[in-house]
Amino acid sequence: MAPRLLAAGDDPVRPGPSTPLTIDVDGEPVTGIRGQSLAGVILAGGTLALRRTSVHGGPRGVFCGIGVCYDCLVEVNGQRDVRSCQRRAADGDVVRTQYDPLPEAPEGDHA
Ligand code: FES
Repeated sequence: MAPRLLAAGDDPVRPGPSTPLTIDVDGEPVTGIRGQSLAGVILAGGTLALRRTSVHGGPRGVFCGIGVCYDCLVEVNGQRDVRSCQRRAADGDVVRTQYDPLPEAPEGDHA
């Protein structure tokens, strides 16, 4: 069997030059590269808490990274409940971290 060493520049699967992008995370510009997930760009920008729990307001971030836990929900371009680990970042995306407090109990409801 012949060795298959290739010069780095001749490797057909070698990725090309990266294309930068910028998204807005809670009003702050965050840069990434095309192909990254929103969660990847947001985490690299230093934001670890993507949403807060309704009951106690506890921070939640990327837990599973495969679309199962829903801990990475954010609002993207006005669309709520987007799993940021499952969506590719696009230049100009506007991302808002989410917090939905529980509604107040009606007056006299002691249940
Ligand atoms: S990190 Fe679990 S669904 Fe995104």
